[in-house]
Amino acid sequence: MLRTAVLVSGGGTNLQAIIDGVERGTITNTEITTVISNNKNAYALERARNHGIEALCISPREYPDREQFHRALLNALEERDIDLVVLAGYLVVIPELMIRRYRNRIINIHPSLIPSFCGTGYYGLKVHEGVLERGVKVTGATVHFVDEGTDTGPILLQKAVAVEPGDTPEVLQRRVMEQAEWILLPEAIHLIANGKVQVVDGKAVIEQ
Ligand code: GRF
Repeated sequence: MLRTAVLVSGGGTNLQAIIDGVERGTITNTEITTVISNNKNAYALERARNHGIEALCISPREYPDREQFHRALLNALEERDIDLVVLAGYLVVIPELMIRRYRNRIINIHPSLIPSFCGTGYYGLKVHEGVLERGVKVTGATVHFVDEGTDTGPILLQKAVAVEPGDTPEVLQRRVMEQAEWILLPEAIHLIANGKVQVVDGKAVIEQ
């Protein structure tokens, strides 16, 4: 059973897709052991509680310095024997110590086709604003392993989504969520939970 922690900061629609996948059996061999947010008001925590899942708030504001916040976050994972950390709209930088401890065991969903429209400053609606500003015709979402860079780790899954005439950032964000994010993240967890993924020479390989 893959003991999974989902880290969130906002509305939690990606978390909801994971919860639904586990409950419906499209994600197997997986337990959502805990949901952790830096934001005590994140609706994602409410979603967890509605499904009887532990909902923790570990906020940098509650600690005298970043170092102690990082230690609290890492302790929370280690005390629960977490196998996989899923960043689902989590907006806090992951400490290097955690990346080292959980090498190739932290995945993130990014709402573009990496390496386009990613890196520092590209998160949430800003990604879709960049897409519309550049005028690309195809965008999408990416699930990748988290390394020391920003959106630079091994790419695991991607899915393309059409940009439609007249799209606003909000309309495009919703389409990318519905047609890509909410499909890719559950699929990625299911693959990892069933031993179908390896990282070889910095590349994610999926066993067919
Ligand atoms: C969304 O913009 C999503 O693309 C990104 O994080 C944001 C939060 O989504 N990954 P939610 O909290 O899962 O609804």
